[in-house]
Amino acid sequence: MAQPRELWNSRIGLVLATAGNAIGLGNFLRFPVQCAQNGGGAFMVPYFVALLLFGIPLMWCEWAMGRHGGVKGHGTTPGIFYHLWHHPLAKYLGVFGILITFGVGVYYLYVMSWTLAYSFFSLTGKYMGITSEAEMSLFLSSFQGVKDSTYFQGYGYTYLFYLISLGLVIYVLSRGVVKGLERLAKYGMPVLFIFGIILVVRVFTLGTPDPALPDNSINAGLGFMWNPNFSTLKDPKVWLAAAGQVFFTLSVGFGAIQTYASYIRKKDDVALNGLSTAATNSFAEIILGGSIGIPIAVAFFGVAGTMTVAQGGAFNLGFQAMPLIFQQMPFGQLFGTIWFFLLFVAGITSAVAITQPFMAFLQDEFQLTRGKATAITGFLLFALGQPVIFFLKYGFLDDMDFWLGTFGVTFFACVEIVVFVWLFGPRNAWKELTDGADIKIPRIFFYILTYVTPILLFILLGTWLYQSGIDTILMRNVAKADLPYVIGVRVMLLLMLIGMGIGIKYSFTHDRLLKRGVIREVRK
Ligand code: ALA
Repeated sequence: MAQPRELWNSRIGLVLATAGNAIGLGNFLRFPVQCAQNGGGAFMVPYFVALLLFGIPLMWCEWAMGRHGGVKGHGTTPGIFYHLWHHPLAKYLGVFGILITFGVGVYYLYVMSWTLAYSFFSLTGKYMGITSEAEMSLFLSSFQGVKDSTYFQGYGYTYLFYLISLGLVIYVLSRGVVKGLERLAKYGMPVLFIFGIILVVRVFTLGTPDPALPDNSINAGLGFMWNPNFSTLKDPKVWLAAAGQVFFTLSVGFGAIQTYASYIRKKDDVALNGLSTAATNSFAEIILGGSIGIPIAVAFFGVAGTMTVAQGGAFNLGFQAMPLIFQQMPFGQLFGTIWFFLLFVAGITSAVAITQPFMAFLQDEFQLTRGKATAITGFLLFALGQPVIFFLKYGFLDDMDFWLGTFGVTFFACVEIVVFVWLFGPRNAWKELTDGADIKIPRIFFYILTYVTPILLFILLGTWLYQSGIDTILMRNVAKADLPYVIGVRVMLLLMLIGMGIGIKYSFTHDRLLKRGVIREVRK
């Protein structure tokens, strides 16, 4: 028989764990790139609007849903939806809340392992002496096993760091909510904030590193990000990018926040907890993430150079530009180690949060012990991670990210808000959110949640499908050589979906035992 559901041990532990859930690679790697790709100050206006109209309302809904389900013994969306909307379809709709979060976990873990490796390479000076972007790009791709070079041959290094990272994640999951997730956050989050502040102070004291290029300065970098530019507000692409970033960084639309929220008590607050998760994440993203990547890149490469780096891809700024920059700074090796270790800490606290829902699904719905749930989760993470590693050069990871991290989260955000607000009922949803609240949520949010957020979400999904979604779905821009791999991603995701759907059909053991009177609900 499975162990009883755990609860967070302390409020501070809960706050740190949920902050760790949200704060991740998205804050430090994805945010600066999105911001630079979309014109700096031009991006920040839609970003704040999206935070207010999508991010915070969805965060509240997910917290409220999580507590609602947790009290009834369900920490994932199949069970939560089942209790919100008494319809046979409800639990199957919830499948996306385990597919997306677990699927993102599969490739997120691999990217996170690069940050651990680069922290080690910084410490040992492995990339010291590389001075051009092309060479640094070769360093990265040979590390990833994409091509051989004098720096790396084969997959040895990348695989080693992947296995270490996977082992650490499995270890944390195996220790459970209090001794695993909460303890990791209690140590990890202070380290993250201290390292972040050290780096921000270092960046702010850089001034103009090259006096021969007076336009390349920290001030110019901050100006690029903070001088609002309203000219691109008419461009739907910028709005889509901003909303996508808000979803990714807050982990909303994944199905992950619900699981963490399911480990609180019926009388506990969700309003302040939800808001503080969003606020802490925004602080880490805008103040720390925004003050490191962009200003430092502008100081060394200029505004145009930074935009070019960002256009080059999601990882160019973090893994190519930053190592080049660190070499030009005094104590660069140390700051490089700090930067990549900060990324690793941000990454692992999110990686465990996006894989925990699958654990919770196995434990809650099949009544598996934590040990068995960990073994299954670990095995699947490893097995599904193999094509991500070995087919990286064919765009396997990018395509998974597109389906889950871009399309999936927007789609699932629409699904969950419809289930929670419209099908459960706006008044019930509001009551669920405000019961036990430690803050008073302004009444206007009732209308935002009921009308504004859902309608805007559907407009967003529709615009995105029209703008680029259809082309991507029909694989119009895929190179012929990559086609089998792109199809492979779809087949893999479809099989995961079907497998999880079958799992849902035969699960809900707890509810069955409850109904038959074999067990009693213990937690109120
Ligand atoms: N919210 C997590 C991140 O920002 C997934 O990386």
